[in-house]
Amino acid sequence: MRPQRLLITGAAGRLGSHLRQGLKPHVAAMRLSDIAPMAPAGVGEEVVSCDLADKPAVGRLVAGCDAVVHLGGIPNEQPFERIVEANIKGVVHLYEAARRHGVRRLVYASSNHVVGFHRQGEVLGTDCERRPDGFYGLSKSFGEDVARLYFDRWGIESACLRIGSCVAQPSDRRMLHTWLSHRDLNELVRCCLAAPSLGFRILWGVSAHRDPWWRDEAAASLGFHPADSSEPHRERLERLPPLDASDPARLYQGGAFVKMGPFEDGW
Ligand SMILES: NC(=O)c1ccc[n+]([C@@H]2O[C@H](COP(=O)([O-])OP(=O)(O)OC[C@H]3O[C@@H](n4cnc5c(N)ncnc54)[C@H](O)[C@@H]3O)[C@@H](O)[C@H]2O)c1
Repeated sequence: MRPQRLLITGAAGRLGSHLRQGLKPHVAAMRLSDIAPMAPAGVGEEVVSCDLADKPAVGRLVAGCDAVVHLGGIPNEQPFERIVEANIKGVVHLYEAARRHGVRRLVYASSNHVVGFHRQGEVLGTDCERRPDGFYGLSKSFGEDVARLYFDRWGIESACLRIGSCVAQPSDRRMLHTWLSHRDLNELVRCCLAAPSLGFRILWGVSAHRDPWWRDEAAASLGFHPADSSEPHRERLERLPPLDASDPARLYQGGAFVKMGPFEDGW
């Protein structure tokens, strides 16, 4: 399908800024939303300020859109009270608004931190046990369940992208396995929006690496074939000093996220 009006939440953010440019040729019009300031609207764009925790505002935001790329929210480990507003309430508000306004398809930015307590080197399929590595990972796991519920109950299609490390260039040894290039992110989201039928599916958001931790042969059926790999960066990254062998950030797929917190404020 070619979206007639695509809503991107979190459009002011790192990934949102890339997808704002990259998806433009593939949609008729875009509504760009964030709680943070955004560049002014260009041709075919609307810019709407909205807090995802504000239910009526999210309802107004979604009205008139036929597809959503949901990137908005807290993108790292933080106290639960912060996560709950943007990531837990936010994702429910968004899917409820999608149901009310007849949106048929969403692409949800989930995260590798849904499976962060699997060991590094283990190779996971998309049906592996979820082992969130903190409140952030828990919130993304919850978001995946919300997406599943709205498909089972209301037939709203979703792709949940368990994004690895989406940055311009990989910058540590872990990213030899977790890096997702901006080009591959764009292509993955484009494929999810364009597929004639999507259903509910979980996909790894990762480029094509020599020793992958995550595998999903089914992604190719969507037409997604990653163009980038961490291999050209290997020599540079392997020159970096390794973490201590007992460091949890070296043992678990979630890296440094597995040792963040606890957050002791508010007691
Ligand atoms: N960058 C990565 O490597 C990566 C990896 C895994 C998952 N993700 C997910 O992808 C999405 C985008 O990540 P990013 O790296 O661009 O993060 P980012 O922080 O740059 O962008 C997120 C945006 O969400 C907005 N936001 C936060 N709270 C909000 C609220 N209550 N209401 C409305 N907007 C709000 C922020 O202002 C920000 O612009 C996030 O959901 C993140 O969890 C990113």
